[in-house]
Amino acid sequence: MHHIDLNETGKRERYAELLPQLEALLADENDLIANLANTAAVLKSAFGWFWVGFYLVNKEELVLGPFQGPLACTRIGYGRGVCGQAWQNGATVVVEDVDAHPGHIACSSLSRSEIVVPLKAADGSVWGVLDVDSEHLAQFDGEDAAGLEAVCRLLSAKHSAA
Ligand code: SME
Repeated sequence: MHHIDLNETGKRERYAELLPQLEALLADENDLIANLANTAAVLKSAFGWFWVGFYLVNKEELVLGPFQGPLACTRIGYGRGVCGQAWQNGATVVVEDVDAHPGHIACSSLSRSEIVVPLKAADGSVWGVLDVDSEHLAQFDGEDAAGLEAVCRLLSAKHSAA
């Protein structure tokens, strides 16, 4: 499925503008929760997505962290849902249609597409995930993956132990 998206350049530019701003914001604060909370807020206001937030690895589960949007599931097992798959694979997962994706966990019936990016330490271990949901089908593409992976690298550089 290919379509011409005139906003494609706009989106790339928005990530390019956002990253240095986020970097400056994170530079002044060392608290993990404060930085995840502001990152979720910045992404939500920049892009207007339905839900933006973090799940953090806690033993065998992902536990809900700072987010912007409607209430969400609090715990997700290893390999479960899109978030658990991104954790297990250590790789970004882009889902164009959540109803067609095996194992997707529906926190809201309004969510139609999703992207999950793992937060990885220098040794490759995953310490959390960034999850973004949209009420539109096929909202996310390679530009979002690249942009959000850069956001996650910023956070990992500052906050991962390994
Ligand atoms: N859909 C996710 C669960 C988290 S919520 O969408 C906020 C998943 O399948 O892992």
